[in-house]
Amino acid sequence: MAGDVERGRQKVGWARSHMPVLEGIRRRFETELPFRGLTLSLVLHVESKTAALALALSAGGADVHLAAGNPLSTDDDAVAVLREEGLDTWAEKGESVAQYQAGVRAMLDVDPDVIVDDGADLVALVHTTRKDRGKIRGSTEETTTGVIRLRALEKTGKLLFPVINVNDADMKHLFDNRYGTGQSTLEGILTATNLIIASKVCVVAGYGWCGKGVAARLRGLGGEVVVTEVDPVRALEARMDGFRVMPMLDAAPIADLIITVTGNTHIVRADHFRVLKDGCLLANAGHFDVEVSRTDLEGLAVSQRTVRPQVEEYRFADGRRAYLLGEGRLINLAAGQGHPVEIMDLSFALQALSAEHIAKHGREMEKRLYPVPTAIDHAVAMAALPSMSVRIDEMTEAQKRYAAEWEGGT
Ligand SMILES: NC(=O)c1ccc[n+]([C@@H]2O[C@H](COP(=O)([O-])OP(=O)(O)OC[C@H]3O[C@@H](n4cnc5c(N)ncnc54)[C@H](O)[C@@H]3O)[C@@H](O)[C@H]2O)c1
Repeated sequence: MAGDVERGRQKVGWARSHMPVLEGIRRRFETELPFRGLTLSLVLHVESKTAALALALSAGGADVHLAAGNPLSTDDDAVAVLREEGLDTWAEKGESVAQYQAGVRAMLDVDPDVIVDDGADLVALVHTTRKDRGKIRGSTEETTTGVIRLRALEKTGKLLFPVINVNDADMKHLFDNRYGTGQSTLEGILTATNLIIASKVCVVAGYGWCGKGVAARLRGLGGEVVVTEVDPVRALEARMDGFRVMPMLDAAPIADLIITVTGNTHIVRADHFRVLKDGCLLANAGHFDVEVSRTDLEGLAVSQRTVRPQVEEYRFADGRRAYLLGEGRLINLAAGQGHPVEIMDLSFALQALSAEHIAKHGREMEKRLYPVPTAIDHAVAMAALPSMSVRIDEMTEAQKRYAAEWEGGT
């Protein structure tokens, strides 16, 4: 469906007015033009906050091209604004997998200098079928799943250019993965279902950065939270944070709601569907739609129907029902509005500065995965403080000396 430019301008305007860190960077880019003469290809969730990032990069002199990072996460109104601003944008809410793939391919047809990726699909495409894209100075990666794929690629020794791992920056995962996913996952589930969390047994699969945020917000709304894990340390952490921990096979029969957020595959599958509590809601907040097995659901169900937008009912032979939300895709983007604006201000400030770093230094960097430079992480934190009316102390000279020495003790 074609988006509405006016509505899009309101949404993007609202986002920009709550993204002071990125806006500060945009103003600097406007004068310094760090991307002058360069082509940037972005594969991201195309909505209002992403539009703010794309416009900031464009203000920095870049020829910006965008494609959707997920078929359900696009905001067509934001797309309308980007197109009106002259940015080549390949995204439509509900697009087919073929359309999605065509968009990702188009990002390489423009022969980019810098790539901004989310989930590593674009980088993977370069390494499988488009090794001819020799102009690429480097890439940045937004999410955990992309980083896992890139680490595997780096291990083969075949990475063709440097990649900055934005996900693991402190200013990313501590806020975006934890508080952003925590809040927006619940927003998506509540929008899709209009049901209450209080009184429900809510199972969170994966107690990583995202899972911690989701579990904390579920508890805040009165849910009884159960965690499933494969990592003993994370399992103990969840237990000491006050949650029950058990295998999925034990959790499925008592669950009113299951949220997967592991970055892994087949977390809820046939074995679990066979014992699932009647009426259980199934949602995924992990990057790809592989965490809740739709193939197994479809194989076991005797009937399937849409009962609300983004809610699919599967009925089993014994009469039990399961409700899959948002087709098992990222529920915060499929049914919600994605991460809160202030969170994306931090994540996209990191992206903008990391893309600038690649533009300036990519050609001298080794072909490996790099952390975000500490100076960038720190600069984003310092810029964010006033936006949240936070002031902090500065070390005295004596404290700096004390912190730098080893001789002093008791
Ligand atoms: N929804 C969003 O907007 C959003 C935002 C950021 C990240 N993500 C995605 O969410 C996923 C998780 O990201 P993260 O940063 O929390 O990763 P993480 O690595 O910090 O945590 C993942 C956790 O899942 C656990 N896990 C793995 N396999 C499991 C299994 N079979 N059963 C139970 N637990 C299992 C791991 O032990 C780990 O503790 C990734 O796919 C990431 O890309 C989504």
